[in-house]
Amino acid sequence: MDDVPLFGGQVVFKPETLEPELFPHKNEITNDIQRKKLMEHMELSSARDVVASDLADISSRLSEEFGRMAGGRLLIVGGGGFLGYYLVQSVLHYNSEAARPISLTVFDNYIRGVPQWLKDLESDPNLELVRHDITDPLPESMADFDWIIHAASIASPIFYRRHPIATMDANVGGLRRLLDYCVDRKEKGRPVSGFLFYSTSEIYGDPTPDAIPTPETYRGLVSCTGPRACYDESKRFGETLCVNFAEQYELPITIARPFNNFGPGLKISDRRVIPDFARNVFNNEDISLLSDGSPTRTFCYIADAVTGYYKILVRGKAGEPYNIGVETPEISMYDLACRIAGIGREHFGYTGTVTRQTSPDRHYLTDNPNRRCPIIEKARTQLGYEPRWSIDDALLRTMLWYRDNRVAEDL
Ligand SMILES: NC(=O)c1ccc[n+]([C@@H]2O[C@H](COP(=O)([O-])OP(=O)(O)OC[C@H]3O[C@@H](n4cnc5c(N)ncnc54)[C@H](O)[C@@H]3O)[C@@H](O)[C@H]2O)c1
Repeated sequence: MDDVPLFGGQVVFKPETLEPELFPHKNEITNDIQRKKLMEHMELSSARDVVASDLADISSRLSEEFGRMAGGRLLIVGGGGFLGYYLVQSVLHYNSEAARPISLTVFDNYIRGVPQWLKDLESDPNLELVRHDITDPLPESMADFDWIIHAASIASPIFYRRHPIATMDANVGGLRRLLDYCVDRKEKGRPVSGFLFYSTSEIYGDPTPDAIPTPETYRGLVSCTGPRACYDESKRFGETLCVNFAEQYELPITIARPFNNFGPGLKISDRRVIPDFARNVFNNEDISLLSDGSPTRTFCYIADAVTGYYKILVRGKAGEPYNIGVETPEISMYDLACRIAGIGREHFGYTGTVTRQTSPDRHYLTDNPNRRCPIIEKARTQLGYEPRWSIDDALLRTMLWYRDNRVAEDL
């Protein structure tokens, strides 16, 4: 790789010069995208089709969990974001066919704008939208919620570094308000049935090689002062709060550690890697890698991840964290870029290639984990979580969604 400078200028990758162990898929990238299977997905001709099919899939996979929640009240804090897109819509989809609906309230401060999809749902009789910042005192007229999901945090690295204090406040102060609410409900004899806190795989930091793949028992290798610490450390302390409230007050509080979710709802302006590459494809410009392409991740389609989150909420053991993601394939950023470019060429008339560029942000790569890959055995055995989407099928569905959702506020 000596002929490919780490930073500076724009360099077209030459796959034949890359080390095979770093890019094991380099000769298979196009073949690996199973053309025949992909064509099946092209029968879904629009973002609307992809979303409708995902919601039907999620709703059927969660029929037992939603059945247990039916007739109850669910609060999703931070429900206006990426994960909220399917967390909210899958419940409303269930409601459309259920005898007893789940009554859903969303709190969000819309720090990154009010999404159109949520505005479009405003008239749903089982949905209440409240503009509320979770770091503020809870509304006095707070209803009796049975189920609570705390997903309010800025999650995209570029944005949480822009708003570090707000990120820490939501993960610690905001969480504390919700935990106090649970204690209060219990003291009043109306305990909540389930509480889910969104932590992150980032709590593991940059694991040592022997801790890849990573089980929930790994303690992490994390900087408490680096540019990512506002996120990683506030999630870690959030988990500590959850575990101690669960124990001391005997509350059904559970924790999700998501590993790189992607798919519909993740707006193209979010600055996470897959929307960035999708934007390159639909602008028909070269895909820009902002690293040397070697960091690896496993990517989990949102329709799989959301089933895991509701399973934790309903079935998870109090005080327990669960990895939610997929175990394979662990792919490099370069491999990911090639897969997306391949889909672009095959289906969307893309003519660009994969290049390397320098991020103008000097901390873009500081403390960026080299590898991230979960062990999901705990969620599999305790909750019945079983992801089913292959990376290439899921990427194609995602690209179909982006084709129809190319414009988003850049907040
Ligand atoms: N998407 C992933 O792959 C991933 C990975 C790890 C962890 N997580 C965690 O999952 C949760 C949801 O992630 P996401 O990808 O949907 O993020 P997102 O940024 O798309 O959405 C978060 C939502 O929370 C809202 N919010 C932020 N601060 C708030 C506050 N103080 N009060 C009320 N609302 C507030 C935002 O307006 C936004 O609508 C976050 O806690 C995130 O840290 C997500």
